Formats: sequence, structure tokens, C-alpha cells
Amino acid sequence: MDMKALILSGGRGTRLRPLTYTGAKQLVPVVNKPILWYGIEQIVAAGISDIGIVISPETGDDIRSMTGDGSQFGAKITYIPQDSPDGLAHAVKIAKPFLQNSPFLMYLGDNLIRDNLVNFVEKFTQQSLDALILLKQVPNPTAFGVAVLNQQGNVIRLVEKPKDPPSDFALVGVYLFSAVVHDIIETLQPSARGELEITDAIQSLVDADKNVMAQPLQGWWLDTGKKDDLLAANQIILDETLSSKIEGQVDDATKISGRVAIGHGSTVINSTIRGPVAIGQNCHIENCFIGSYSSIADGVKLTDIELDHSVVLENATIQDLHQRITDSLIGRKAQLVQCLDRPKALRFMIGDDSHIELT
Ligand code: DAU
Repeated sequence: MDMKALILSGGRGTRLRPLTYTGAKQLVPVVNKPILWYGIEQIVAAGISDIGIVISPETGDDIRSMTGDGSQFGAKITYIPQDSPDGLAHAVKIAKPFLQNSPFLMYLGDNLIRDNLVNFVEKFTQQSLDALILLKQVPNPTAFGVAVLNQQGNVIRLVEKPKDPPSDFALVGVYLFSAVVHDIIETLQPSARGELEITDAIQSLVDADKNVMAQPLQGWWLDTGKKDDLLAANQIILDETLSSKIEGQVDDATKISGRVAIGHGSTVINSTIRGPVAIGQNCHIENCFIGSYSSIADGVKLTDIELDHSVVLENATIQDLHQRITDSLIGRKAQLVQCLDRPKALRFMIGDDSHIELT
């Protein structure tokens, strides 16, 4: 039976607030492309084109309208609404009518990984496994699901977000399952945090002597749910994938060095841009220094500012600041404006859960 894929893009996105009050965390861009799309591209590259995406009532419409029917990726996408974020295994449960009895690759829509998924799919298929999980050693295992392996490398125990971690092998948000997992999920009870945990489902597969294997991840992995992870993802993707492409207008007074991409309809005047930097479409940049590892989304206006190692989302405006902006994530349509040379006061209108550091 052909393999399917299930991408989980529901959930609440509490850790990227305030950005996720108005949008899905899986749509936050990394180098001007939604995180979710990297996962879709990898799944298609691994030869899977029948993809289900689990969406929530709050952000599902945005995900659906931006991502479409899958034709732009060479895939067929089916959207699967989940009424409330009752856990990763709950998402599999409600996706059963789509998955039927096919083996499937499950991908958490806020994860980004470097490794190609092909080897992973091949190992699962060739060895007729019931579950294959990906593991990566991490310095902070309490933030993840964690697996304990025996000397032969078999999975013997899994714990979700352990207070006292029995190992530092975290479960990466990519899993492969055979249809056996559905029967196991029917037997699960909600965890202490009230969710049906996929980690518990895998533990039950191990307890039932099913064929569960783990594979270490070679390349990097980022769970982009937090600001610093998102900036790190932006840096890595700029480093590894950006090529120079100037489609907008750049005047003679502007100096560009390194790899810089500037989209159609954008204008850059009297500025210095030191790549790698990605600038979207219809931006206006004047009298600015834009330093490396910055991504500027469509419609952004920057005037008389210095900025580096930052991500600025669609239609934000930043103007006349005399301190450098660094390590920052600026939300959609945000306005950051300084009116005087040496301001005597700071005047804010800042959304709930915002975070501002004047360093
Ligand atoms: O990122 C890897 C980690 O992902 C694993 O190490 C953990 O074992 C696993 O439980 C998961 O932990 P998180 O707490 O990071 O999961 P989160 O709530 O962020 O949800 C992951 C994705 O699944 C995210 O894109 C939202 C989506 N989701 C989540 C829930 C709870 C759903 O679509 N439905 C849900 O009910």
C-alpha cells in the first residue's frame, strides 16, 4: 500500500506569542518561506505525494489558503480539522479516515530538519517496521520526548518531557508508523497534561513487542517554536540555501556584499547590505545598514536604521532608530519609529506577551 504523510499543524503555538495570536506558528517564515512548506517539500522529495494536514479552528483557514491543494508542491493535500489540540496521537486518531490502513510518515509542522527523508522511509519499508523514530542528542531533554535504548540500539522506554531525563536522546518530530498504531491509540488514556501522547503510543508498541526502531539524525534539527530557534533556523537556511538574486531596484549609492536576494518591486537607496540577507518583494529600504543573517519579508519599510541577525515579517515599518537592532523578531505590520534624535521618552503600544529588551 502506498505511503501517506500526515503533517500536524494544529495546536496552540503558545511559545511564539505574540506572533501566534494572529497567525499559525507553522506559517512563520524562515527566509521568507513558511516553516510548514519546508516539511512539505521534504516529504514530496521522499516520494510521498498524498499528504494530510491537521489544522486547528483558529489558524486552519490561513494554512489552507496559503498552502492550497498541494499542486504547487506536486502533491495532493487533504485538510483535516481538529476541534481542539488534544495531543499528537489524537491528531492521528481523527486523521484515520484519511490514513485508512496505509503506512504513514508523521511530521510535526513546526519542525525543520536537514536530513533527507528518503533513507528513513526506505529503512521503514525494507525492514517492515511498525514504528521508526528519529533521535537527536540534545542539551535540554526535559523539553522533549526522550527515548532510552538498549545496547543493541533497540528502543526500550520513552518518556514525554521528563523532569528527570533518563537519556538525552530527544524524539525528533518525524515518525513513521504502520497501521497497527491506530489500534494502539484506541487504548490510550490522556496524559497528565490532558493530551493523547504519541510518545505513549510508541511505548505501547514497544510493550506489545511490535517492531520499533530508532535512527539517529545526522544533520541539524530545529523545533522552531521559540524565538531563538527561529533565528537559528533563519541563519542556517540563509547559510545553506541563499543565492544572490537582485530583482528589485538598487541605486548607485548602495553597497552590497556577500549573498543578497532582493525581490521584485523592492527599492534599496543609499544603504549597505552585507549578506547573507534575503529581502522580499515590494520593500522600501533607505539609508540603512542591513547586516548578515537577516530576512526581511514582503512589504517591509526600513528607513535610517541598522539591523542584523533578525527576522522582520510582512509589512512592518522600522524608522529612524539610532541603536542597532539585533537578534530580533519583528511581527507583521509592527511599527517601530523614533521621532527625535535623542528621545526623552519611549512611547509604546505593545501586544500581549511581547518581549522588549533595551540593552
Ligand atoms: O518537536 C519534537 C517534540 O514534539 C517531541 O520531542 C515530543 O515528544 C512531542 O510531544 C512534541 O512536543 P511539543 O510539545 O513540542 O509539541 P507541540 O505541542 O509543539 O506540537 C507539535 C506540532 O503538532 C505543532 O505543529 C502543533 C501540532 N499539534 C499539536 C497538538 C498538541 C496538532 O496539530 N494537534 C495537537 O493536538
